[in-house]
Amino acid sequence: MAESSLYERLGGVCAIAAVIDHFSDAVVANPAVGKGSKNPALREWSVEEPGRLPGLKFMRTLWVCNVAGGPFEFTATKPGSTPLGLEEAHRELRISPEEFDEVAAELGRTLDYFKVPEREKGEVLSAFAAHKGEVNEGYKEAAQTRR
Ligand code: HEM
Repeated sequence: MAESSLYERLGGVCAIAAVIDHFSDAVVANPAVGKGSKNPALREWSVEEPGRLPGLKFMRTLWVCNVAGGPFEFTATKPGSTPLGLEEAHRELRISPEEFDEVAAELGRTLDYFKVPEREKGEVLSAFAAHKGEVNEGYKEAAQTRR
């Protein structure tokens, strides 16, 4: 019998949406990457764009469903070089590797909050980590032009 997908093991779209909802609120409240961030783009987005948060939650839910093998296709508003590519969605935000790690830690805490088993937690975090280079592209570019 074929092994069930990560999507199925996580409990499907509603379980994933609940995780993303909690995680996305936690990121906005996080002092390093949300409303109190030293990164002006992240701070301004968190403070000034609350109307974009429901859409971001929808897009992140779609992305996780897609990467986890669910029956939904993520269609980016700012397409990257691959269907799940995140470089254009994050370029202007200039997210540093440390900021990425803080967001990943927030995701880990959310997965613990929902008591997601270790194996599935590891798979979700690995799926995120695989796109770290893309999310950090804008930061790396800006660092090069400062040199
Ligand atoms: C691999 C890790 C990440 C994933 C899977 C992810 C997922 C996404 C997705 C799917 C979108 C919407 C893309 C679109 O509209 O085309 C998005 C946008 C966004 N992401 Fe991420 N993201 C990640 C890392 C981060 C990090 C570290 C931050 C820092 C706080 C962040 C903050 C944002 C913000 C503020 C937007 C919204 C931009 C807008 O207003 O359109 N993301 N992300």
